[in-house]
Amino acid sequence: MENSILLLCYLIGSITFIVGLKMLSHPLSARKGNLVAAAGMIITIFATLFLYTNHEGQHLHNYLWIFAGLAIGTVVGTLAAKRVQMTAMPEMVSMFNGMGGACAMLISLIEHNNDPAADTGKMAIIILGMIIGTISFAGSVIAWGKLNGSIKDRTIPAGQAINFILLGGVAVLSVMVLTGMAATMPVLFYGILALAALYGVLFVMPIGGADMPVVISLLNSFTGVAAAFGGFLYNNPVMLTGGILVGSAGTILTILMCQAMNRSLKNVLIGSFGGAKAGASGAAKEQGNYKEISLSDTAVLMAYASKVMIIPGYGLAVAQAQHTCHELEKVLHEKGVEVSYGIHPVAGRMPGHMNVLLAEADVSYDRLLEMEDANDQMGTTSVVLILGANDVVNPAAKEDPASPIYGMPILEVEKADHVIVNKRSMKPGYAGIENELFFRPKTSMLFGDAKKMLQSLVTELKSV
Ligand code: TAP
Repeated sequence: MENSILLLCYLIGSITFIVGLKMLSHPLSARKGNLVAAAGMIITIFATLFLYTNHEGQHLHNYLWIFAGLAIGTVVGTLAAKRVQMTAMPEMVSMFNGMGGACAMLISLIEHNNDPAADTGKMAIIILGMIIGTISFAGSVIAWGKLNGSIKDRTIPAGQAINFILLGGVAVLSVMVLTGMAATMPVLFYGILALAALYGVLFVMPIGGADMPVVISLLNSFTGVAAAFGGFLYNNPVMLTGGILVGSAGTILTILMCQAMNRSLKNVLIGSFGGAKAGASGAAKEQGNYKEISLSDTAVLMAYASKVMIIPGYGLAVAQAQHTCHELEKVLHEKGVEVSYGIHPVAGRMPGHMNVLLAEADVSYDRLLEMEDANDQMGTTSVVLILGANDVVNPAAKEDPASPIYGMPILEVEKADHVIVNKRSMKPGYAGIENELFFRPKTSMLFGDAKKMLQSLVTELKSV
């Protein structure tokens, strides 16, 4: 009877994960989707704690340890999520992903410890879960450091060769363990762990030049796959379903991010990104002069435009200007101006960053245009207002084969009549490269913090 209730709870858990994931695909239902999946997770955790019995019919007994772990994890997770600044969200997501990988790694270590002479099938699952979980953990920690700026991109001499050697080493040691050699040399098992951790670090370390989105989604899928191996190991259907869902969603996201960055998946898998270091196109070119535009001229230009497209970028998140941006949209709309948002798939620092940000400010989803649609409409747009975006509108991606971002599709803002760029200075964006767009004839710079500038622009527009 208990077992049937447990299986029913697992079924409910699996269904909530699938429904929750489906709801996450639309900003309007995303929050509820998260809650639905979290509720399913709570049901499955407590069902496992109180209803699970081992093959000898015994329930779990070490509740003190389990609840102490749950309490610590809940307090740390809740505080971290409540305190995190919106701008630090991407690195927190990366760290949480790494924790998933670390869990899979620890499960494998513990299960190996419990049963060092496991049969080949079980040992293969233990090893695979450990390798993938460890790579995901080590890689996510490096990604976390890169996103918060504490770890700089580093080109590693002969990096690709070293990565191949490390993977080869992991494969050789795994075969040795599987053929029973670890019985006399337990160090072999821990050797796999060490090489996988090193691979995780070295594989993410050189990636820069704006290629991080691909790696972040790839690490995400690794964590899912590692968790699925845990599900195999414990014969736990809900862990398997959850792992498969995360693994496949992460894989689909990786493919989408590859398309957004125009990189092949093969390149991602062997860690051979084109733009290891920003500035590969050589020393900064002499760019000439840029022209500035005043707030009042911007207001007049926008008030009399027929169509305005706003291009949000990372700077909008930094400034927390999404609500003021929505206010600007409403004022323009009242003046009869058609307003839309052009969303680049890798704008910001995490997949869907701009969608989340604008949804938070209640911007209607219908106004958000994906990159292809935005580019189709650019030719008929009077004014493009770029708010804290840089790399995603950099023409070097189309025109300069030596640029680290060459090949990445961009929002082709120059097709519009006027381009206004709001940022605080002439400093580069994430890829660390200059942007010739700022010096082009159609472009005018509107310097200042996005929030303050938008507040003044709204006031100015109301008086036009
Ligand atoms: P970026 O190219 O990073 O440019 C952001 C710009 O915002 C900066 O040039 C900065 O210029 C400006 N800015 C910062 N604070 C501001 C403020 N308070 N007010 C106004 N402007 C401000 O951003 P993007 O165009 O969104 O491109 C995203 C980049 O991040 C891409 O290279 C992408 O590959 C990379 N990336 C993306 C992800 C994902 S998954 N989306 C993950 C990792 C990396 P100033 O300092 O002069 O103000």
